[in-house]
Amino acid sequence: MRVIDIHSHFFPKNWENLAKKFGGEDWPWLRHSTQKCNDYNKAMLMQGCREFRPIYAACWDANVRLEEMDRDGVDQQIISATPILFAYERPVKQALYCAQLFNDAALEICVQGQERLFALAQVPLQDLDASCQEVSRAKANGHVGVQIGNHVGLKNMDDEAVLDFLQHCSDQDIPVFVHPWDMMAQERTANYMMGWTVGMPAETQLSIVSMILGGGFDRLSKNLKICFAHGGGSFAFLLGRLENAWIHRDIARGKSQHPPSHYLDRFYLDSAVFDHDALDLLVKKMGSDRLMFGSDYPFPLGEQPMGHLVDTSPSLDRHSKQQILAENAAHFFTL
Ligand code: CO
Repeated sequence: MRVIDIHSHFFPKNWENLAKKFGGEDWPWLRHSTQKCNDYNKAMLMQGCREFRPIYAACWDANVRLEEMDRDGVDQQIISATPILFAYERPVKQALYCAQLFNDAALEICVQGQERLFALAQVPLQDLDASCQEVSRAKANGHVGVQIGNHVGLKNMDDEAVLDFLQHCSDQDIPVFVHPWDMMAQERTANYMMGWTVGMPAETQLSIVSMILGGGFDRLSKNLKICFAHGGGSFAFLLGRLENAWIHRDIARGKSQHPPSHYLDRFYLDSAVFDHDALDLLVKKMGSDRLMFGSDYPFPLGEQPMGHLVDTSPSLDRHSKQQILAENAAHFFTL
């Protein structure tokens, strides 16, 4: 069975000192181990002087990545930046510089990938024109789509400029992957990684809901290819609650012309939910033609081994598994 993983991340091994170039605080950088011991292939992702996350060579070394893909039976993988590289909160020029820097670095990793690795671009989403310009440049250079963070500061996915960007992507046939980041309620989710386990799913749900109720799907072309990460976060489980509110309170309808369940055929979700029952719910609500395998490799919270959840599902038939593991992604990204 062919397997395409649409949700994985990269870091270049090194990049220029952005704090030195632009000034300001909290720029991301990698602190590589300097000891010639077993740690030689590990690094600490830093945000300014804070430790953010331990990572290892699979992030930057295509050979390590391909070996682990072979180990887990993954044929092709789509790599994307990690949201810490987005720079949406910085001046547009700096964010555009970062986008170009990391987009070009992603393609360098793909070149080493023996035609098994593909990249999503990042854009300076705080500026519509710069985003359209960079995503078109990236497509011309070989990126197969674009990844965006699910909000820009206080702007959700019902924001006019964000919707205009999505329309641009639709017009240019550029698929969009939406990744949660900069999670809500950080003071109250600071412990136990609750930003990742509670904040991220809530962020993704918020994005889908705001796009539906903000009239995004009514306004945007049906040709738009858009996929949300982590199985859509809390969205599917709480769709009934959303639908109930839409039916009984006019203020819960926003600009949407139809009840929320009407729009389920307008977007895709990845399969990174780590639970067979959750996957069954997604298949029931969205259909097996709307889900794509995503692992979140090679981070500690990614699926290990990659593809295991879909592969071992006791309820999905072979055809549905093949759709989720590869067919839908091959269509979505034209691979
Ligand atoms: Co991810």
